[in-house]
Amino acid sequence: MSYKAPRGTHDVLPSEAPTWQFVEHTFQSLVELYGYGEIRTPVFEESDLFIRSSGDTSDIVTKQMYRFQDQSERDLCLKPEGTAPAIRAYLEHNLGTISEVSRLWYATPIFRYERPQKGRYRQAHQVGLELIGSTSSQADAEVIEITLALYRRLGIERLNLKINSIGRAATRAAYREAILAHAQCYLADLDDEAQARALKNPLRLLDSKDPKAIEAMASAPSILDFLESESRQRFDELQSILARRGLAAEVDSSIVRGLDYYTDTVFEVSSPDLGAQSALCGGGRYDNLIQEMGGPSTPSVGVAMGIERAIMAIEATAQPKPTSHITVFVANISEDLFPLAEKIALDLRAKGISAQFDLDNRKFKNQIKLADKLGADFTAVVGETEAAAGEVTLKDMQAREQSTVPQHQLAEVIGAKLAKR
Ligand code: HAM
Repeated sequence: MSYKAPRGTHDVLPSEAPTWQFVEHTFQSLVELYGYGEIRTPVFEESDLFIRSSGDTSDIVTKQMYRFQDQSERDLCLKPEGTAPAIRAYLEHNLGTISEVSRLWYATPIFRYERPQKGRYRQAHQVGLELIGSTSSQADAEVIEITLALYRRLGIERLNLKINSIGRAATRAAYREAILAHAQCYLADLDDEAQARALKNPLRLLDSKDPKAIEAMASAPSILDFLESESRQRFDELQSILARRGLAAEVDSSIVRGLDYYTDTVFEVSSPDLGAQSALCGGGRYDNLIQEMGGPSTPSVGVAMGIERAIMAIEATAQPKPTSHITVFVANISEDLFPLAEKIALDLRAKGISAQFDLDNRKFKNQIKLADKLGADFTAVVGETEAAAGEVTLKDMQAREQSTVPQHQLAEVIGAKLAKR
């Protein structure tokens, strides 16, 4: 019997892992500059957490949850996104009492029963952040700035930042009427369930992938014309902060996001190099979510970036692929010098230099083949003469030159050569 990774999932192989690490490390070092602290939440949570926060008309809840009962009949699901678990943990552990503003970041798998295609998976991965406890447009700007800075640091230059404001309850109520009136003909053709869903949350019509909905919504009124003055002011302020920081943003009133918790600012960054699944990330403000989850009113804003999509965008650039390889391969010419090769490799590792030797003590020729395969930067060769003199022959595989180096200076010499590269 042969097994395969489940449909919509993928293995990250050692040859691909350095690019993943590049994305994750770049994100972590960037958000640490702003004082974000990491939060790790369980892979599964109570289903109700997502039904209440993402909304019972969202695709995530209606179609995509990996939902199951455990042996005690608890209704659980694999997390389809990272915001609700982060907020659940924030409330459970009273993180809000430690400081007024909490800054959390995470790297997490997410699980959505999607139709898999390039850039869309059933297990995908996100890095994300939540800035909890500030009403200021500065907070919205900080989250957007970090997002763009991440992509710049990853070498992804071709980006489109789209922003919108979806206002608050009064805006939504007024817009609901307007959009339902506009979409009347289209709605009449829908089945009962789709109609009920559209009536419950007409914003979803703007997000629909149905070509008929797209056509019907093309001439829909803009939600921006329904904003209350406070929302309008916030949106104007955000645009001037972004302009002041030199961050180009396009206002696009069709950006409404697929999750119910947003209020006011929403945004997405897409890449023209990604094909159909062009959204690199999405985020926005969610000022009511914490209260709806039983906490005090706590305005917040956040974003999540898809790691797979960031990697696709990196691969579309000309930058060299990060690799991981061994620094030194220690080879012994004769079989009885194996313990010396072993000792030299162990010493190098103790000094922080990655090193391997041939575990199977094969013939010298095969050891050299292995060193080549591993892509070692250097090969340190020990033969009888070198062993007697307490030396090794150090071959620099890139520069194609070799030198004799005392064994006790090997780490220093290699360190100096690496520093010059
Ligand atoms: P989202 O838009 O659902 O937002 O997901 C954010 C990003 O995750 C997407 O733009 C995409 O890059 C990636 N992504 C989502 N689903 C998949 C998938 N099936 N396959 C590949 N990539 C995927 C959220 O998840 C919100 N929690 C973001 C947020 C944080 N809002 C406020 N704070």
